[in-house]
Amino acid sequence: MHKDESTNPSFTSKVGLIMAAVGSAVGLGNIWKFPYIAGESGGGAFLIVYLVCVLLFGLPLLMTEFIIGKRSEKSVYGAFRALSRNNRWQWLSWLCLLATIMIMSFYFMVTGWCLSYLADALMNAFSTANDLEAHFAHLSGSFPRMSFFALLAIIFTAFVLWFDVNKGIERLSKILTPLLLLMMIIMAVVVLMLPNSNIGMRFFFDADFSKITPQVILSAMGQCFFSLSIGLGVLITYGSYMPKKQDITATSLQVVLLDTLVAVLAGVIIFPAVFAFGFDPAEGPELVFVVLPAIFEQMSLPWLSSVLFFTLLCIAAITSTISLMEAMVAFLTDATAGRKHPLNRHSAVLITVLILIISSGLCILSVTGVKWLTFGNWNLFDIFDKISSCLLMPLSALAMALFVGWTLPKSAIQQELHTGHKRLSSTIAFVFMQIVRYLVPLAILAIFFNEVYHLIVG
Ligand code: TRP
Repeated sequence: MHKDESTNPSFTSKVGLIMAAVGSAVGLGNIWKFPYIAGESGGGAFLIVYLVCVLLFGLPLLMTEFIIGKRSEKSVYGAFRALSRNNRWQWLSWLCLLATIMIMSFYFMVTGWCLSYLADALMNAFSTANDLEAHFAHLSGSFPRMSFFALLAIIFTAFVLWFDVNKGIERLSKILTPLLLLMMIIMAVVVLMLPNSNIGMRFFFDADFSKITPQVILSAMGQCFFSLSIGLGVLITYGSYMPKKQDITATSLQVVLLDTLVAVLAGVIIFPAVFAFGFDPAEGPELVFVVLPAIFEQMSLPWLSSVLFFTLLCIAAITSTISLMEAMVAFLTDATAGRKHPLNRHSAVLITVLILIISSGLCILSVTGVKWLTFGNWNLFDIFDKISSCLLMPLSALAMALFVGWTLPKSAIQQELHTGHKRLSSTIAFVFMQIVRYLVPLAILAIFFNEVYHLIVG
């Protein structure tokens, strides 16, 4: 398996790969989901549980995907076969593809919401809307508006992927990811200067250990997987673009640190602002799409602060959709290579767009309340989210850990995790092996048993 420079796409710099991987990791999960889960599940106590999950499971699984990708130089479709030299793990590729499509279906819809809110912010629509709750309900009930903005997100993402990875994804990530980090830091500083911001900080950081139940630990774990983009093979794809000399351990550590930093910063932006203006911290979509615009209206620079925040949210979302769509495009080109009708990158992008228009369209229809697409209390958004986050992603993370831990030769892992420091490298490889062989599989099985137990006992 030699790197054939002419056909094998690759990033040209280490920074580019880190920025793209951070761009993938930092997304709606950090800014929209993390703060409210933390806020309602014990604040600082949740943060501690989350950090432990990130270090024990997130980091090793990130390294697992990077190892698979970098070593095979293949997309999710070909990676397992290239490394095991048989077809026994092929099912895992299809499982990843299925989960990727499910996640994209609703992720593009929510990215569309962000774009729509950015447009509103630019046109100063929040100042004239007297009921922001109704404003959001209007958006999430309107098929034309939601599909227009979701389509916009799909087309923009496809446009970036139209270029080769080092020209499209790498270049854009090198601009957008640092910009995002900078904007978040600026907003956090501004918010912390508001009067009473300490009440929000206390709400977010005060540790209430009585709230830490097994259920909360599970949600920390699920959040950690989703936030780090683990379990779909997206990072296998990015790993296959990793420059040969790049250090997997250091890269993974940087991605994990930056992703967690952004999640915490999001909480630091949101909660002090919420309390400073006397709002209640709402749950779910309401927090970002109803409470925050109302707060911005009361700040001294309403237009600027809402434009800044929604720009930031859109950037976070788009760099994530790019990674998801890239995984599928690489899958399609890889799966058809050497066949009668091989797909080039452009046709793979077009096919992906077509599939996404259908699947996001169904998801949007279902959210607007179309009867034949709702199942009991659940619409397709809930169903795709639950199936992928609670079932498919843990299952594929489990399989990937077993794959790397038990089927790759130890020497291969040592080689991939080599840091240039002999003693350190062998310690890292040893600890890594124990974690992916035993700890990760046992923890994920425990999650499944707990879920099944709750399903049966109620
Ligand atoms: N990590 C992103 C977020 O926090 C979402 C995401 C992008 C993702 N790519 C992924 C989640 C791959 C799982 C797998 O919003």
